[in-house]
Amino acid sequence: MAQIKAMRGTQDLLPANSHEWKFAEDLLMNIAASFGYKELRTPVFESTELFARGVGDTTDVVQKEMYTFEDKGGRSITLRPEGTAGAVRAAIEHSLLNEALPVKLSYLTSCYRYEKPQAGRLREFHQFGVECLGTASPAADAQLILFAAHIFDAFGLEGITLELNSIGCPKCRATYHAALKAYFAAHTDTLCPTCKDRLEKNPMRILDCKNPECKEIAKDAPVILDYLCEECSEHFEKVKAYLDITGVPFKVNPRIVRGLDYYTKTVFEFVSNEIGAQGTVLGGGRYDGLIEELGGKQVPALGFAMGIERLMLVLKAQNYAFPAAPTPDIFLCSIGENAFKAALTISDELCADGFAAEVDILGRSVKAQMKYANKIGAKYTAVIGDDDIEKGVLNLKNMETGESIECAFEQFVETFENEYIAYIEQHALSNTLDVGEEYDG
Ligand code: HAM
Repeated sequence: MAQIKAMRGTQDLLPANSHEWKFAEDLLMNIAASFGYKELRTPVFESTELFARGVGDTTDVVQKEMYTFEDKGGRSITLRPEGTAGAVRAAIEHSLLNEALPVKLSYLTSCYRYEKPQAGRLREFHQFGVECLGTASPAADAQLILFAAHIFDAFGLEGITLELNSIGCPKCRATYHAALKAYFAAHTDTLCPTCKDRLEKNPMRILDCKNPECKEIAKDAPVILDYLCEECSEHFEKVKAYLDITGVPFKVNPRIVRGLDYYTKTVFEFVSNEIGAQGTVLGGGRYDGLIEELGGKQVPALGFAMGIERLMLVLKAQNYAFPAAPTPDIFLCSIGENAFKAALTISDELCADGFAAEVDILGRSVKAQMKYANKIGAKYTAVIGDDDIEKGVLNLKNMETGESIECAFEQFVETFENEYIAYIEQHALSNTLDVGEEYDG
């Protein structure tokens, strides 16, 4: 029968790498927790209208990239292309905004965009994101950016640049739109059909078009920074001043507009030049109008999201030393039926105590079982034969040192657990010594 392959733009996360993802995701969520963010989980599909209204129906994401379909009940459904709209919907729906503000939410989600796949650009990808709802203060923008910078520090990553811009509010955007319209009107013949349409509806979206010809024209378009109203301009100055105080290096890039319509005022991106054309690892900003747009109160908010695939690419590019994949604590080899039953009982007891204990479930020879135990990196092994059960003794072997100790069958679990604790303590100690030695040198 013909083999079925994974869909274009999707990836399987295999056991050889999943522990690395788990490590990165745990670290991200722990950092979020230390900044006071609590986890939110929302459904993978939402009503299409949520994204059309939230992300904006003149964006590439909504116009070209959404996985939208009708369900069997005739509803228009969309697989989430990003996490913010769903988070805001949930916050409104569950009255989270009536609680103490700010409401700080974090999430790890899969997202779906029908884009042309390339390195760092997938159709199913994963985001770590945070949303801070209920503050208009520029202090919040600066702290959020610090939080993002802290993530890269926590992973020990270097060479990631922070690019910052302000895209103003609806008030200053009215003048800016007029300037953009005047500029692009002279190039209408060259613009792609989507951008021709955007010229009337939302000219700022032309700045984010991926079409090479539109990109070329957009290069010389007026920039929003020259059109900011007094309030937006003051806000931006304060954000920059806070960042200066904290020493987070940044570059103002007036060309950043972001690909989603909900942004107001501060926008930012953390960019790597080590992972190819899709270098934006993290992006975010303020969205003061989104909550109201989605039917909530007028509550200002801000947030960011990081692409996990892109983070992993940067970590790999910088040879990040991930912790090794976990290996079994013990493999119990067995010879014969009674021995297998004994091995099963012991392993079950050890698993209940929190140890990773495995047994042979292939009915292999003891030699093959030992070979397998070695291959999967079992820290300890024990061979149980029917005569061992009769004699009431077992040998516990440390696979690293090759040393064995004999113990009473009845005391096997206790002996193993004590041995194991001593082994772990010794390892922790030798790791500390290694670090110390390196440090002294
Ligand atoms: P975004 O810039 O569209 O923002 O996506 C955030 C990050 O997701 C990007 O910087 C990138 O790392 C990753 N990403 C986006 N598209 C893809 C793709 N096709 N393949 C792989 N990775 C991708 C948002 O989604 C906003 N919701 C961020 C936000 C949260 N703003 C405020 N709060």
